[in-house]
Amino acid sequence: MKFIAAFMLLCVSLGAEADLFPQGNATTGQKLFAQLRCDSCHMNMYGGDGGAIFTRANRKVHNAPQLLAQIGVCGGNVDQEFSTQEKENIAAYLNRYYNFK
Ligand code: HEC
Repeated sequence: MKFIAAFMLLCVSLGAEADLFPQGNATTGQKLFAQLRCDSCHMNMYGGDGGAIFTRANRKVHNAPQLLAQIGVCGGNVDQEFSTQEKENIAAYLNRYYNFK
């Protein structure tokens, strides 16, 4: 039963990613995020793995365009000018926190 629920959840979340970030690849985005140490500042600010910055009550990002924009802004923090593809990859990954549909 648990497995079926998890599987359905996976299908739903994969579907959502596909719609919002049509070119986004969450696995590639996760690698890039780790490689660039995107979480370094967020960890200093919020502790743990830094993921709390994406789920905090007063978070900045409330929809998909804002997420893509913030990824662009934060790219500057790691001296990167992301392509649309790279932004979509990272957005597809970070949508595990935001769950935009
Ligand atoms: C130099 C420090 C620093 C680095 C490195 C950094 N960030 Fe951030 N990030 C911040 C700060 C500060 C905020 C909060 C901005 C605010 O509240 O106005 C933030 C917020 C965010 C948010 C929005 C969170 C919310 O409130 O919803 C996202 C998404 C994000 N960062 C993605 C990234 C990505 C992707 C990278 C790597 C490319 C990255 N960040 C690297 C400092 C950093």
